Amino acid sequence: MQNIQLSNTHQSGSVKEKILTGDRATGQLHLGHFVGSLQQRVKLQHCYDQTILVADMQGLTDNSHNPHKVSSNILNVVADYLAVGIDPLKTTICLQSAIPALAELTMYYSNLVSIARLERNPTVKNEIQSKSFGRSIPAGFLTYPISQAADITAFKATMVPVGEDQLPMLEQTNEIVRKLNSIAEEEILVECKPLLSRVPRLPSVDGKNKMSKSMGNTIMLSSGEKDISKAVKAMFTDPNHLKIEDPGRVEGNVVFTYLDAFHPDSTYIAELKENYQAGGVGDGTTKKILEECLQEILKPVRQRRENYISDKGQLVNILKEGTERSQDETNQVLSSVKRAFGLDLF
Ligand code: TRP
Repeated sequence: MQNIQLSNTHQSGSVKEKILTGDRATGQLHLGHFVGSLQQRVKLQHCYDQTILVADMQGLTDNSHNPHKVSSNILNVVADYLAVGIDPLKTTICLQSAIPALAELTMYYSNLVSIARLERNPTVKNEIQSKSFGRSIPAGFLTYPISQAADITAFKATMVPVGEDQLPMLEQTNEIVRKLNSIAEEEILVECKPLLSRVPRLPSVDGKNKMSKSMGNTIMLSSGEKDISKAVKAMFTDPNHLKIEDPGRVEGNVVFTYLDAFHPDSTYIAELKENYQAGGVGDGTTKKILEECLQEILKPVRQRRENYISDKGQLVNILKEGTERSQDETNQVLSSVKRAFGLDLF
């Protein structure tokens, strides 16, 4: 976990960092989000002006054939935020598609970015390959980094908590910022910097992939007791650790990766690892320790989530209120960008 106290140096001065983060609304959030970003956001909201964007438009860029996947997950994502402790009084939670300035800014910025530059973005490049888009790539997908630049700059975000894969988006954002400022001959947009989560990406239960939002190899925040138990029992360990007395491998052993991420007592886990490596600890034992720990963490989250999801009206109100609060500030940025292009007749 990033040391938030240390990175909070600007607070005492006149500059207060502004944070923007977001998630595509394409599925419920899972344990990977929990350790990778959600816990960090819960801490950050106490020290910073933080906005979280439910990125439904970005979700559509590769789901136009199945828009329900996006629309049906907007409130799921909001319920996940609230369940882990994101407080709508401290963090503004808003909906991308309901903030017109974001789409307008995307349109203006798209004149500043070449197709060659878009095709060079390594994250997008990987995604294009893995989705086998070829020439059928939706224009919206190729250009989503421009839309993300609109999100970041519209909120004047100075700090964006992200995983490694999002670094190219921030680089492209800052290129747009510099171009626009040079056209405007004044600093109307601010550059952003990443706040990298130090937590390594959590593997899926089978140890083969990163966690995906589709159920199966993933423990969701909403997973019930039985699903958690089943997932832990199915976890990849050390295929050569056949008998309890065999020495076991800790590296690549998903149970230990999860214990490192979730167990509160790291000294205890260090001892457990030593014993496991020496031989004498069975996978049944390590899995039991992990299951107890995950059940304890997820039970209150699941209960809060169930309460929120049973009151959709309240979720809509929270999202609507945060979205309304975001209109003014994003419109101001839009106005200054239009002014930079001389499009401010009225
Ligand atoms: N690209 C992010 C994701 O895939 C979502 C996102 C959209 C975002 N707009 C953002 C993240 C602005 C940070 C800042 O989850």
